[in-house]
Amino acid sequence: MPVIATRSRRRNAIAGGSMEAAAELGVLFGCHSGVCGKCATRVLSGLNNLSPPTEPETAMGLDAGCRLMCQCRINKGTVKLDLD
Ligand code: FES
Repeated sequence: MPVIATRSRRRNAIAGGSMEAAAELGVLFGCHSGVCGKCATRVLSGLNNLSPPTEPETAMGLDAGCRLMCQCRINKGTVKLDLD
């Protein structure tokens, strides 16, 4: 079962499920559609466990290692976010 983690917390996730579940760990969301950038979060480890970047993410020009949590899905393993 995939896991979404921060530095101090973790929660189980569904394989192929939305990273919007990370709201429970402190990720803030706005538009939920890849436009506002509010959910941009640095991924400390497990970047390859996420779905590939979407067109809105690519267009936004995020820093390396950052993803829009409203746009990606967790496929496997543990994804550790740069949050306490
Ligand atoms: S919530 Fe707006 S870009 Fe993700």
